[in-house]
Amino acid sequence: MNFNLKIYQQEFAKLATAYKLESIDLYPFEIISSTNKKIWSLIDFGNPLPIAVISLQQTAGKGQWGRTWQSSLGGLYLSVAMNCDLFLDCSFHLTMATAWGIANLLRTYDIPLSIKWSNDLMLQNRKLGGIKIETRTSHKKIKYVVIGVGINWINSVPEIGINLQSYLQKKQQKSITSLEQLTAITISGILSGYQHYLAIGSQQMLANYKKLLTSIGQEVIVNNCPGIVTGVTDKGELKVRLQSPGASTEISLSPGQISLGYPQ
Ligand code: BTN
Repeated sequence: MNFNLKIYQQEFAKLATAYKLESIDLYPFEIISSTNKKIWSLIDFGNPLPIAVISLQQTAGKGQWGRTWQSSLGGLYLSVAMNCDLFLDCSFHLTMATAWGIANLLRTYDIPLSIKWSNDLMLQNRKLGGIKIETRTSHKKIKYVVIGVGINWINSVPEIGINLQSYLQKKQQKSITSLEQLTAITISGILSGYQHYLAIGSQQMLANYKKLLTSIGQEVIVNNCPGIVTGVTDKGELKVRLQSPGASTEISLSPGQISLGYPQ
């Protein structure tokens, strides 16, 4: 398996024209520890941003909450690095813009992606991909962001997962035919999501994000108390209405405090 940079560039050029995106250099690798780690070293080396890195395999892909992201041949392992100038409490906006940007663009290919709070990309109630955002700050501002995205393309996946090619084959759809095309779409989704967020602001982006969120209305248990998810704040907290006998209170929980689990 290899990555054809020419095919990628052709696919990206079409999307860049359609969505008025700036150009971005992509560095492809066969096998590295983590695309997020590699892109930080390219930033430290002084590469002008934005840049993107993909690898056909990763030996130590980074997932959420310190987990490892299994990165065998056949998946998309991508990082995009950008300069930004956002206040520290806007870090969730990067998650919203990225998840919405990718899901929204893939939906134009007739692939009904949704988002599971806070940053899982879902297809048919199964995890298609995940996002791992890392930032560097200076003077109380986020100055650099690295957006890492893993999407299951033709790699094998666990029970809770799904890969895109098997979905497309079942639906007899030929809307995406190569890893190069999927890479171009994902990079364009990230760039256009961020561009759109800068244009419309966090409240509008939150509304867009919530439209694709499957988690609202979900029943949860918090400290043995049943509750129902009612929304998400623009800081990325999950709003839950707790229902104890005779009373109901609304609380906000950060992603580290609760995990929503996957349907069995
Ligand atoms: C999650 O746990 O859901 C997020 C997974 C993000 C994995 C991607 S793969 C490409 C990029 N490089 C990494 O080391 N991690 C992210």
